[in-house]
Amino acid sequence: MSAPSTVLVTGGAGFIGSHACAELLDHGYELIVVDDYSNSAPQVFARVQRVAGRFVGAVYELDIRDRQALSAVFDRHTVDAVVHFAGLKSVGASTRRPAEYYDTNVGGTTALLRTMHEHGVHQLVFSSSCSIYGEAGALPLDESVPARPTGPYASSTWTCEGILADVCRHRPEYTVVCLRCFNAVGAHPSGLLGENPRGTPDNLMPFLAQVAVGRRDRLQVFGDDYPTPDGTAVRDYIHVMDTVDAHRVALDHLADGPGMRVYNLGAGRGSSVFDVVRSFSRACGRPLPYEIAPRRPGDVATLVADASAVARDWGWRPSRGLDDMCEDAWRFQRLNPYGYEGSARRPGADRRSDGGPPIR
Ligand code: WQD
Repeated sequence: MSAPSTVLVTGGAGFIGSHACAELLDHGYELIVVDDYSNSAPQVFARVQRVAGRFVGAVYELDIRDRQALSAVFDRHTVDAVVHFAGLKSVGASTRRPAEYYDTNVGGTTALLRTMHEHGVHQLVFSSSCSIYGEAGALPLDESVPARPTGPYASSTWTCEGILADVCRHRPEYTVVCLRCFNAVGAHPSGLLGENPRGTPDNLMPFLAQVAVGRRDRLQVFGDDYPTPDGTAVRDYIHVMDTVDAHRVALDHLADGPGMRVYNLGAGRGSSVFDVVRSFSRACGRPLPYEIAPRRPGDVATLVADASAVARDWGWRPSRGLDDMCEDAWRFQRLNPYGYEGSARRPGADRRSDGGPPIR
């Protein structure tokens, strides 16, 4: 089985997806991107092109549950492998819209798999989530720790893993690498790409960045009474550039042979909310205001990866620390106070590389 050269990226306009596009283009892949822009914007592709010095091959605005539209993309392009980011990712929002999370995340994955099968595409990297571990007792977490998802986001993601495992179990032609992403944060060091959530950020790092740039008054720290060193919750933050580097390496390892392999994708070290606040304060050069608020439903005290499996099997380790994440996140926020939408829309920014019509 040869290494893939043309990769379809679902959710390629999103935070991790757009950084992955830049990384894969930079490493010579041809990319086809599909995204419904429900939590992203097409302006990002002009940035991706500036960062990578190459265009994405083609971008299609579609919902991957629309199998007719998705099939037309596979009809038009020879796809060697798929990297699947598309989905809803907010722990908190999923408790408010559970059915939508299952429909989008599980329905999107089954529609993608069926379309891939119809077109003889059997190689997939799935961007999963550490949230499937839930309130696991054993820490740090290795891949053998039983999943105990709490909430619709985690449960729908765990369901997707189960579907992929079943497909690989019964169809020997499939190869799947599943990466359980811990907390991917930061931004491309150029300041051109970063986290650009719509509305009020659910996640700590983009919210803190908006406090630092003056868009938000203060951070609400969701609980300081957890059984952790400083009472605030502990997470395994990993630089988004390390995260997408690992997704690229996963594509290389699809050639290791059929079946499904699962890896934790974290830095293997925990940082509390206060650790992140202190690091971001150093990055932006001033103390950041916060207040203690009640715990957020669905949160757990500690989630830290045992990331030894990916080091053992691939010889891969993350190379950036929390200060790098905050410095890069701050650079993007400082240069783009209102994200991509805040930048003037340049003529032709969304033109396709093959001279085709502008992205719809
Ligand atoms: C981190 C900590 C909050 C906001 C994320 C993604 C999820 C998955 C795992 C990939 C928690 C606290 C937050 C705020 C706060 N990644 N916090 N004030 O919940 O670990 O999940 O990583 O799939 O998709 O959502 O990340 O950034 O929301 O929270 O105190 O305003 O920061 O309580 O302890 P989380 P987060």
